[in-house]
Amino acid sequence: MAIDPSDRAERAPRRTATVLTAAGCTALALLAASCARGEDEAAGGQDGGDTAAQAQVLEDAAGSGETCSAEQAGIEEFDLADMKVGFSQSEAESNPFRITETASIEKEAEKRGVELITSNAQSDFAQQISDVQDLMSQGAELLIIAPLNSDGWEPVLAEAERKQVPIVTIDRQINGDACGDYVTFIGSDFVEQGRRAADQMTEALGGKGEVAILLGAAGNNVTTERTKGFKERIEENAPGIEIVFEQTGEFTREGGQSVTEQLIQSNPDIDGVYAENDEMGIGAVTALRGAGKEPGEVEIVTVDGTEEAVQLILDGWVHGVVESNPRFGPLAFDAHESFGKGEEVPVELIISDREYDADNAEEERSNAY
Ligand code: AHR
Repeated sequence: MAIDPSDRAERAPRRTATVLTAAGCTALALLAASCARGEDEAAGGQDGGDTAAQAQVLEDAAGSGETCSAEQAGIEEFDLADMKVGFSQSEAESNPFRITETASIEKEAEKRGVELITSNAQSDFAQQISDVQDLMSQGAELLIIAPLNSDGWEPVLAEAERKQVPIVTIDRQINGDACGDYVTFIGSDFVEQGRRAADQMTEALGGKGEVAILLGAAGNNVTTERTKGFKERIEENAPGIEIVFEQTGEFTREGGQSVTEQLIQSNPDIDGVYAENDEMGIGAVTALRGAGKEPGEVEIVTVDGTEEAVQLILDGWVHGVVESNPRFGPLAFDAHESFGKGEEVPVELIISDREYDADNAEEERSNAY
């Protein structure tokens, strides 16, 4: 039977995460099982129905070793099948990353027969705060949040704590206490994505040239970490590459295009562009085409793994793409399910991402979204 959120309000205060021991691994088997589950499903694209090859795979099922259980969090155990789940999407679904992410959550809820209510904040953070509050008012007993910003969640966290609503955050982090404010974060190693993009750029330029960064939106850990990984790796491994320009394109195609138009004005001989997502990279290609550049004249490296970006590798416009896999449905619901059963859930579940370049784009394009 579902736990009435108002019943849970009076329970013990939430505690802090613990460190996983060998005996506390039951949740991990369940989470790992989700990685193979796609096998008998239809091919995916953006519809959220991942094949085994497309499904998210955990880098390390034990995460950092820190875990969270219902007992530690002071929350009564529950059966996921009886719960109403609220999903809050951050950005507009014009970006295939967002389309695929939402579809994956919806498909998984449907597959499990779990009631799901959803909202989309259209890149407005105040709207997302009120969306999540609204989901709780509509009776959401569990939350899956794709946060727009990492800070500023206090009103939601306080209300979720009062109503004893466990939170799983996906793809970006909420700055708060693991097992106090949220159960787990599921997402990529964004610093590593930046490093891998730097390696691709270094290879494309033969270690020498002037590079621009199209930064993601401000205020979230993804932009900060993709930038950090890229800059550190260039500094360490490619002293002949100089970063001469950086400006945000807000993770949008239009933003990537208009910033690249400015870039071409100020730095007409730019050698490379690192776009922190595919949408901005695709916008950059439009700007470069408009300026009369030929494919490969400016080396472009991006992050995500959308069908359009992988096609641009085949067309010669993009050198390489580091994947960020948005198919969060299976792992997000597994995390809530394990937590509800009283199992220990790692407070950080890091997924591994593939990479596309001219050598594998044709063969691997069916995994793009
Ligand atoms: O948080 C993930 C990032 O957000 C994706 O890489 C990007 O496309 C989206 O805007």
